[in-house]
Amino acid sequence: MVADVNAIRAAARLLEAGKLVAMPTETVYGLAADAGNPEAVAAIFAAKGRPSNHPVIVHVARDADLSRWASEVPDQAQQLINAFWPGPLTLILPRALNVSPAVTGGQDSVGVRCPSHPVAQALLKEFRNGQGGLAAPSANRFGRVSPTTAQHVIDEFGAPGVGPLAAVLDGGQSDVGIESTIVDLTRLATRGPVLLRPGRISAAQIEQVLGRPLATPDTAAPRVSGSLDAHYAPHTPVALVASSELATVIERLQAKGRRIALMQFSVRSLNPVSVLMPADPDGYAHALYANLRELDTQSADLIVVEQPPQEVQWQGVNDRLRRAAFDSAGVLDKLL
Ligand code: TXA
Ligand code: MG
Repeated sequence: MVADVNAIRAAARLLEAGKLVAMPTETVYGLAADAGNPEAVAAIFAAKGRPSNHPVIVHVARDADLSRWASEVPDQAQQLINAFWPGPLTLILPRALNVSPAVTGGQDSVGVRCPSHPVAQALLKEFRNGQGGLAAPSANRFGRVSPTTAQHVIDEFGAPGVGPLAAVLDGGQSDVGIESTIVDLTRLATRGPVLLRPGRISAAQIEQVLGRPLATPDTAAPRVSGSLDAHYAPHTPVALVASSELATVIERLQAKGRRIALMQFSVRSLNPVSVLMPADPDGYAHALYANLRELDTQSADLIVVEQPPQEVQWQGVNDRLRRAAFDSAGVLDKLL
C-alpha cells in the first residue's frame, strides 16, 4: 500500500530525530537520513557496508534553497534544473562550507537532486518544513542491485524496527528503474560539463539544453561509487552474451549441465528459466533490477543476459549491465 500522509509525517519526524528511512523515488528506492546530521549520515554507511569516503546525494524539495548545499549554482546548473527538476538528474556542484564531509566523502563537491516521486516530494516538504536535505544512496547493500520496490528494501535490510531502518515508505514500483543521470558541473572552466553516470535523462537531452557537448570522466573526476567495475551485481555470476552467440552459448552451457537463468531480449525461448525483457530502453530499464533480483533467487549457476542494442538510447541500461556482468568472460570461461 502506498504511504499515506500520516506515514509520511511519521517518517519525517523519524528523520528529524536522526533515524534511517527508506523512501521511494522515481529512479530507485533511497536509504535516507538527515543530510544536516553527520551521525545519521554515518548510519547510512554502516547499514550499507559502504566505504565512508564515498559521497551521497542530497535530495531536496522543489524550489529548495540550494545555497545551504552548494557554494555556487552556475547558469548551466540552473538551466538543467529548469529543464529537468523535479526528475532523475543529479548535479555535482561546489559544496557549501557547512556541508558535512560525511555527505561529500571529504570532497569539495556535493551531489544534489530533486526527485519527482510524489511520496519523496511530500516527505521532503514535510521534513524540516521543506528546508532540509535528505542524504540518500540507493537502499541496497554496497555493490548490490538497487531496489525498485519497498519489498526489495526489506529483502536487503529486514523489516522496519528489526534491522537498521526505522521506516520504509512504500511508493509502488519505481518508474525509471535505474539510478539518476549524474552531471558534474564543478570544473566548467577547464573540462566543461561531464557525464558521470548515464540514466533516463540522456546525454543528448542535456547537451540540447546546455548547447554544448558533455565530456566523459577523466581520472580527476569526482568519485562515483556506481562507477566501480563490480557494481549493481546479483549474488549469482552474470554473463553478457551477444544475440548472435546466445543460442550456441546456451546450448553449450546446458550440455555441461549448468543451470541457467536467462534474461532475454529477443522473442525466442531458449531456456526453461527465463524472462523476456521489454524491447524499448525505458521499459527495459524499468524492469531490469526487479528481474535481476528475481533471477538471482533461482539457484542458477549463472545469469545469462542477452546483450541489448548498443545504440545511444541504451547507454544507461548497458552501463548497469556491463557492471553487473563485470567478469563476463571469466564466468563463461569457468562454466563452459
Ligand atoms: O537515482 C539516484 O540517484 C538514487 C536515488 C535514491 O536518488 N541514488 C543513488 O545514490 O543512486 P547512490 O549513492 O547509490 O549513487 C549516487 C552516486 C554515487 O556513485 C556517488 O559516488 C555519486 O553519486 N556522488 C554523490 N555525491 C557526489 C559528489 N559530490 N561527487 C561525485 N559523485 C558523487
Ligand atoms: Mg547505489
